[in-house]
Order: sequence, then structure tokens, then C-alpha cells
Amino acid sequence: MNNKPIGIFDSGVGGLSVFSELTNLLPDENYIYFGDTANLPYGSKTKEELIHISKNIFDFFQHKSVKAVVMACNTTSAIVYDELKNDYDFKIYPVVQNVSAQIANDGYKNIGVFATNATINSHAYKKEIQNYNKEINVYEIACPEWVSIVENSQIYELSSIGNIKLYIDKMLKNNPDKIILGCTHYPYLLDILSKFVPKNMFINPAIYLAQYIYEDLAYSNLLNTQKHAETKFYVSSNPEQFKKAAQIFYNVDKVEEMFLSKLCV
Ligand code: DGL
Repeated sequence: MNNKPIGIFDSGVGGLSVFSELTNLLPDENYIYFGDTANLPYGSKTKEELIHISKNIFDFFQHKSVKAVVMACNTTSAIVYDELKNDYDFKIYPVVQNVSAQIANDGYKNIGVFATNATINSHAYKKEIQNYNKEINVYEIACPEWVSIVENSQIYELSSIGNIKLYIDKMLKNNPDKIILGCTHYPYLLDILSKFVPKNMFINPAIYLAQYIYEDLAYSNLLNTQKHAETKFYVSSNPEQFKKAAQIFYNVDKVEEMFLSKLCV
């Protein structure tokens, strides 16, 4: 069981911001990364579409005999996790649910959340955080353009920087103590974000999630004890674009194309 791979998925390169934290803490694990580039952006999909897509990905991971699946993607954690959590016999780590306790316990009074439309409309971070501490104010702002800015490698274009500044200005009106980057793609923008707000104002949930997974696998006696870690990368379209956009977080040299999910809409 212990040397079975860990599956991790996202709509595209975003999940690599989680993958890189995971491999820092757990370098000896085997991983299968799936970037669903054919279906991005997830943030504008309906619940039914996201369930359909996620089921196909979970089935793929089941077929690959994983010991755990990391729902790196905030959007599917927020919208789909509750629907699928009892249907599989591997461990499932949904980012929003697994990091909120720690964020709520860090002593902040006003927390901002930047995320996709679907995540913001679900109020998943607000609900989870206030579940642990009702006194915390949570300000949620959707930044739907940021995913394509990252996927299309347009981070340093003037129009992207202007767009990022607009959302920062809107968020700062709430005087947040910290701002959660509630979409895996957003840490790719930290270089630009930190031109307007100090870097340490941002919470990258990936850091908390990796720690959570490390502790949970250790506690469950599921850490890989063998030392031949390997990672296989799959995308559902555009492998070259994926490789290019990925570079900020990870140098992917080999990626296989695999189409899993045809939306029936
Ligand atoms: N990166 C994903 C997230 O964390 C989804 C982004 C998208 O495809 O809209 O929410």
C-alpha cells in the first residue's frame, strides 16, 4: 500500500503550486498529476459539470491504484468534495476543508479570500473558517481572469498587471490582516501581487495542505518507505502550453495527453 502513488489534480498548471509544496515535504512519494486543461476554467462550470468531471478523474486515479487523491483545486474541493467523499476507498485531501482549521486558529480577525467565481459563490472558505471561529470576518472576491492569465503565460503583460491591481484595490478597502490565495493558480502571480501588497500578507493554502497531508499520511502509516519516487504528468489537452506555463513552479519535461471527461452539455 505505502508505495502506491498519490493522485493530484487541478484544471491545469495551478495544482503544481500544491505539488511543489508536497514534494518539498514528501520527496519520496510517487505521484500522478492530472491537469484537466481541456475543461478549464473550472471556476465557471456548474456543480453538475464539476461532479461529472471530477468523477472521471477519481475513476482514473482508482484505476491507477492510488493510495490518496489530493483535491489541490479549490473549486472542486468547495463544490464536489461532499458529493464524492464516500464513493472511493482511498484517502481524499480537499484543500479548502483541510486548511481552514489552521487558518482560523492563526489569530486573524479579518481575512480576505481571492478565488474563482464558483468557489466564491459557494462561500466555502467563509463557511469553513467561521465554523471554527464565528468572530472572524471573511471578505470574498472572485478574480475570474487570473486563471487564464496564468495558463496563457501572460503574467507580466500590462493588461494583466492592471487587472490584478483592480482586485487588490477592491480587497484592501476591507483592511484584511491576511489574504488567502484561494485558487491554485494565484500563487503564480505572487511576484506581481507583492508589488502592491507585502508578500507576507498572502496565505498560500498549499503550504498548510502539504503539512496536513504529511502529518495524516505519517499518522496513518502510509508514508512511502522506498526511495524510488517518480511522477507521471497527464493533461487533457495542450501539453506544450502546459509545460510552458508550469515553468514558474515546476519543470515538467514529460507529459502525456489523456482525455478523460467529455462534458455532456
Ligand atoms: N485552480 C483551480 C482552483 O483552485 C480552478 C481554476 C479554474 O479552472 O477556474 O480553484
